[in-house]
Amino acid sequence: MTPDSNAPSISDDCMSAVEYVLLQPDPVKKADQSIALYTQWQTLSDAERESVLAKETTSVVVKLQEPGRPLKPELVDAKFLARRGLGSQAGRIALLHSLAHIEFNAINLALDAVYRFRDMPIDYVTEWLKVASDEGEHFLLLLNRLRELGSNYGELNAHTGLWDMALRTDHDVLVRMALVPRILEARGLDVAPPMIKKLQAQGDSDSADILQRIYTDEITHVLVGNRWFRHVCDERELDGASVFRDLLAGPSSAYLRSPFNDEARLQAGFTVEEMQVIREMEMEYRAAEVN
Ligand SMILES: [Fe+2]
Ligand SMILES: [Fe+2]
Repeated sequence: MTPDSNAPSISDDCMSAVEYVLLQPDPVKKADQSIALYTQWQTLSDAERESVLAKETTSVVVKLQEPGRPLKPELVDAKFLARRGLGSQAGRIALLHSLAHIEFNAINLALDAVYRFRDMPIDYVTEWLKVASDEGEHFLLLLNRLRELGSNYGELNAHTGLWDMALRTDHDVLVRMALVPRILEARGLDVAPPMIKKLQAQGDSDSADILQRIYTDEITHVLVGNRWFRHVCDERELDGASVFRDLLAGPSSAYLRSPFNDEARLQAGFTVEEMQVIREMEMEYRAAEVN
């Protein structure tokens, strides 16, 4: 971990410690500190976790237009990002850079799930801190690979808009769980296997191995999202599939893009019924787009 004497300790004030890392602009520090948060959390007993969460915190939940991020990469609309094939090193660097940017945002999304929704059980905090730690590791793996290939995070432009879904879902944990892990993160399950195959075909097994590791972890992240989505549905006596359909109606369906990796999605806790809802909502959205 990068030593940082200003960082609040998670065992004194959990939410301030999480907020500090969420607002951390330096990407390597943010990744290291997200890993350290979970490592420290694991040293606490259940009773200690309960007592730290019950304590007063100096952290106040606010609408966060943007989490801490570095000046570079410059964020541009996705349509302005160069698309290159994976046959060239420049193409592979562009892919790894865009994935590093996604992982950087995934650290923020996981930390924000803890920072923002404070009425959730201790296991919710534990599981999202674990996700943030995994995302920190993913970011560092991709960053190292970028550096091996002579590039770095920030050298290319990256797409804006990854935080949009966080802003659109910051009013309710049910909406956040329904749409961030189950739509944004689940998308990774669909696109990763073909990318891994392409990288292997190009002889870049080092990058392919990193993507394989990330893919395996991402199944567990979607599972965490599914678990807490169902938890809140049960608590509010709501039918998950119909809530999901309502929340997907409109612009959120833009994130749905078949073909879907049913095997991984079912492993990650989606039901067959929900996969059907996803297919229907994608079709409805595309049909409306054409008309
Ligand atoms: Fe990740
Ligand atoms: Fe993830």
